[in-house]
Amino acid sequence: MSINQQIKPLTTANTPNLSIGGCDLVDLAKKYGTPLYIVDEQSLRGICREYRNAFNDYKNIRMTYASKALSNLAISKILIEENFGFDTVSAGEIYTVYKAGADMSKITFNGNNKSADELEFALDMKVGRFSVDNFYEAELLNDLAAKKGVVADILLRVTPGIECHTHDYIKTGQIDSKFGFDLSQTDEIVNLVINKYKNLSLKGLHAHIGSQIFENQSFKDEIEILVKELSRINQTFGLDLNEINIGGGLGVKYTEEDAPPSVEEFGAAVIEALKTSCEKHNLEYPIVYIEPGRSIISTAGVTLYTVGSSKQVPNGTKYIAVDGGMADNTRPITYQAKYYAEIVNPAENRVDEIVTVAGKYCESGDILIENIKLPAPQEGDILCVFNTGAYNYSMCSNYNRSKKPAMVLVNNSQSDIIVNRESLEDLIRLEEIPDRLRK
Ligand code: LLP
Repeated sequence: MSINQQIKPLTTANTPNLSIGGCDLVDLAKKYGTPLYIVDEQSLRGICREYRNAFNDYKNIRMTYASKALSNLAISKILIEENFGFDTVSAGEIYTVYKAGADMSKITFNGNNKSADELEFALDMKVGRFSVDNFYEAELLNDLAAKKGVVADILLRVTPGIECHTHDYIKTGQIDSKFGFDLSQTDEIVNLVINKYKNLSLKGLHAHIGSQIFENQSFKDEIEILVKELSRINQTFGLDLNEINIGGGLGVKYTEEDAPPSVEEFGAAVIEALKTSCEKHNLEYPIVYIEPGRSIISTAGVTLYTVGSSKQVPNGTKYIAVDGGMADNTRPITYQAKYYAEIVNPAENRVDEIVTVAGKYCESGDILIENIKLPAPQEGDILCVFNTGAYNYSMCSNYNRSKKPAMVLVNNSQSDIIVNRESLEDLIRLEEIPDRLRK
């Protein structure tokens, strides 16, 4: 079974407390405090290797990790060691992977409204590919590159018009999308790039159809559209473009209801689609970039919370409240995302109850998990919520002036802080009181 098909990290064990990476989770909660993000290094490295194995038979593959899922120095360092490049979407993400020592030629810069400052920074950082999203960006990037006397290698982001079955907010490939060129506009932009924008060098096409996708057919459809369009552009303009970037999107298993394909099945489907489509449209096997984010980091991550207050609504819901919530995991309130959790300390001889796990933030909607069966949770219990590696820390906020939690990397019974917990001082670090208010 692939790591993205499991709810828990690879190294999860009962010892008798729950442990991950050989580290007792109660001990970690005591040592580092809660809420606490934990990343299991073996799960992270394991899925990277699964991706590499899945594409063993396609030598023109370029693995990049979508760092928006979780970006920090230590995680980037591990991905670099595992031979991944990065899909980045801001100067911040570019700077992070640069500081971690990435080979900048393996970086793609994506986004629908990259600022002039960010584009300049990316040019100075010599990122390998710019995924140009719209007419405005093409002109801006060309001007900036011309001023610096450099040529930017670009892909064109296109909207393939594919509806995939995922939450509306994380669909990106449908026709009415803020991302990319409509296929009816590609001739116009290709024409501009090859005839007018002398500081842009066109390499191929890019698309991303959405996130948390469970059907490989969606990727096959996408590949058919990209290959067909690339081949058509080559014929129309007498070009020899040979790169496609198919984005990310492979799903993970948050709860028992989720059934994502394995990485191996995903790889086989992509390679099969490439073979079929390239033969059909008479295109040589292109260089193919993939940009998985969620499936790389989600399963490796968990969050620990301490249970505090509880409330039994007469004849209604039993709420148990934890010391985190929508500030450290905004996915339930944003996407109605579902999670699975367990109590970490032994809770034998307790009767199972159906409870709703509430966050501590001042909003009724701050509910982490609705109706989960847990052994009668009590104050002081440590609750482990699984599959929080992706889009949790990267979307976390200081709502209610909360301090962002720490993150710990575990492996072989060792635990290391990779992101420190914020302090109260950190919360006011950037603030000023104007002199006129000091009187
Ligand atoms: N490439 C591009 C161009 C993307 O826009 C994305 C994600 C990825 C790759 C990575 O997709 P993944 O493999 O992670 O599915 N915050 C949302 C997810 C937003 C995804 C945005 N784009 C969530 O928490 O579900």
